[in-house]
Amino acid sequence: MSLFEGRTYDDFLFRPQRGIVSSRRGVKLTTPLTRTLRLELPIVSANMDSVTSAEMARTMALEGGIGFVHRGQTIEAEAADVAAVKRSHGHLVEHPWRLPRDATLREARDFARHHRVTGILIEESRGSGVLAGLLSHRDLPWFGGHDDERVDAYMTPFERLVTAAPDVEPAEAARLLFENRIEKLPLIDRDRKIRGLVTKSDLMLARTRPGSSKDAKGRLLVGAAIGARGDFLERAAELLRAGADVLVMDVAHGHSDVMREAIEAFRRAFPDAALVAGNVGGADGARFLADLGADAIKVGIGPGRGCRTRLETAAGVPQLQAVYETWSAVGDRVPIIADGGVRHDKDLFLALACGASTVMLGSMLSGTDEAPGTVIEDPATHEKRKLYRGMTSPQAVLNALYEATPEEVDDALDVPAEGQELEVPYQGSVRDVLHRIRGHLRSAVSYAGEDALERVRAKVVAAPERYLVPLSAASRRESYER
Ligand code: XMP
Repeated sequence: MSLFEGRTYDDFLFRPQRGIVSSRRGVKLTTPLTRTLRLELPIVSANMDSVTSAEMARTMALEGGIGFVHRGQTIEAEAADVAAVKRSHGHLVEHPWRLPRDATLREARDFARHHRVTGILIEESRGSGVLAGLLSHRDLPWFGGHDDERVDAYMTPFERLVTAAPDVEPAEAARLLFENRIEKLPLIDRDRKIRGLVTKSDLMLARTRPGSSKDAKGRLLVGAAIGARGDFLERAAELLRAGADVLVMDVAHGHSDVMREAIEAFRRAFPDAALVAGNVGGADGARFLADLGADAIKVGIGPGRGCRTRLETAAGVPQLQAVYETWSAVGDRVPIIADGGVRHDKDLFLALACGASTVMLGSMLSGTDEAPGTVIEDPATHEKRKLYRGMTSPQAVLNALYEATPEEVDDALDVPAEGQELEVPYQGSVRDVLHRIRGHLRSAVSYAGEDALERVRAKVVAAPERYLVPLSAASRRESYER
């Protein structure tokens, strides 16, 4: 243990090993997220209100990682974020949006904008589910007027629609779409009832992005956060109903009686749901969560950039030490998520080499377009920034309480803040950030003498002193000061 005692990311370099790959593009970064889910990119976005709502979660999954939607919002709002990710792609849309044939064009325009769809299935009467036609964005008059006319005057009627049976194979659906030069294929049963919709863009996605994180139905994977008190079981039920693939039970001190009771109650209610639990700071906490049946363990007490826990309570364990101690306790039995404190891409690699299966990022992703919040521009320097804040910062706590009673607000504010707000540089799309991370991780694996990240982890955890070089103050200056 002594190698890691009191040490974290900036305390080590990795001793380069004889390289075996001819092209870094071929380096595999595949990794387990939980006991059953696997990702092509070992990166997850933090369940924080300045990091992950639907847009971030969707992009994370498209890029091969996953996002955990935050819980600093109502149950309905969080479930809506989850549902939006699950609906955004798939081999088929199971419950396509629809309007009745007597709806107006104005209604259809508003409906399409609101649900962000380019085509609407039209049913014979509201709620009947019987297909009457399809109104695509090309059917809507673009030259104004006509707003009060009925959609059935403009839709492609059922008689002229190409449709298929609900169990159509993706290859057959692709053939029908192509041969008829159409983009949407409604699926109906013998009674003409709507049973789904296949779109060209979804089928194309499966080809163009084979590394995306998807479920068996081709829909993007998404995670969501719950707490360990109050209405957490009700929240869990709604999130699972909305399609969440994995939940994270996220509390500041995961090695606690509160957590034990909450996980036991969760398991009674949802025996098969994938559950990440945390946070803990090392071996005892990790064993505790593993024994309670967690499907992955989130590690990190106080390393996060928006976090003041260590400053205010002295609680914490240096993050790389915490990751390795956790691995030493649970091994490969339960995947480990290293959460917080990553400032440079090399930190990601060190966490993953020393036992973590994935790394959770907050501040590193929060300056992107996909993170909630607006870009602030300094009028003098034209520097662009976004706000990032700890989930127990006064601002985030107040925001989460906007629907709470005055007593609940008083209670929440009674607990001293262990989080803070800060500004981070604006960085454009998170895709670019992930592209950079992917490239650097592949290079790091290549320097480590392997062609797959999992092989690096296996050899490093078995003998870390062979690969990690502890740094003196002088070697740290030589390495990092530029
Ligand atoms: P980074 O360093 O990636 O860290 O920005 C993200 C992680 O920080 C944790 N977090 C907090 N920790 N008080 C804390 O003690 C807070 O208010 C707070 N908000 C977030 C969280 O684990 C997140 O994933």
